[in-house]
Amino acid sequence: MHIPVLKKEVLEQIEKNNNYIDTTFGQGGHGKEILQKILPKGKLLAIERDEVLYQQGLKMRLPGLILYNDSYSRIKEIVQETNFVNITGILFDLGFCTFHIKESKRGFSFLNDESLDMRYSSKDSLTAKKIVNQWRLEDIEKILKDYGEEKYAKKIALSIIKQRKEKEIQTTFDLIQVIKKAVPYQKSKIHFATRTFQALRIAVNNELDNLQKGLEQAYKILDKKGKIMVISFHSLEDRIVKNFFKKSYLILPSQEEIKNNKLARSAKLRIGIKT
Ligand SMILES: C[S@@+](CC[C@H](N)C(=O)[O-])C[C@H]1O[C@@H](n2cnc3c(N)ncnc32)[C@H](O)[C@@H]1O
Repeated sequence: MHIPVLKKEVLEQIEKNNNYIDTTFGQGGHGKEILQKILPKGKLLAIERDEVLYQQGLKMRLPGLILYNDSYSRIKEIVQETNFVNITGILFDLGFCTFHIKESKRGFSFLNDESLDMRYSSKDSLTAKKIVNQWRLEDIEKILKDYGEEKYAKKIALSIIKQRKEKEIQTTFDLIQVIKKAVPYQKSKIHFATRTFQALRIAVNNELDNLQKGLEQAYKILDKKGKIMVISFHSLEDRIVKNFFKKSYLILPSQEEIKNNKLARSAKLRIGIKT
């Protein structure tokens, strides 16, 4: 089951009978509750890049919901195409959902042996398998450093190149073996493959560029005094959000939420108001 992160804190920002955009509808955890709060006169435009989640969302048949299968990096065009106006607030809940980890079978988690895909949308052509089997050493090393902040980036990239000369790296477990050979054993709170998996996911889905574009366009389409609310899960995302707003305020999950939902551990909600 997907438990929406910082739900109570997001809902406190939502005003009855106003229009909102949920740029990352996912499994509808936030979207459904926002709708409850804005009805009867408010409408929710929701965007979801993943075709499977989009189809699931349509099946929910929620009154007041306009669901769009696209990327939030096109939010300005989407708003024009749907004639959506008077926008009071825009929510971004970044990254992936429980669905991706537990059900999608696309290699998002290093705990399951699955094909190395990692795409949110099957319309995109780049996969994690292509990166590890076709990219140059320097380019692999760069994404591991930049998107994974992985200190063994070079060693892992070299290990990937060595392995693929013998046999294509096809699955998550193939990749784990390759990383294991490169990283010295150490007791650590996070799994040794976490940073590599994060880097590949960000690269495959162009996540940081999309976020920057999404924020810039969101600001333009928002009403004056409207709010942009962003839930981020790692420092690379939060840095972009923090730099984008001249002024923003930060809300962290309560201890109780962290206790009940592992996903909330690293979550941050940052809110910026359009002046
Ligand atoms: C953290 S989940 C959202 C969860 C949702 N708030 C809920 O409570 O169910 C993030 C979602 O954003 C989607 N996504 C990722 N990049 C996107 C993009 N560029 N445009 C639109 N959706 C995107 C993912 O497919 C995923 O479903």
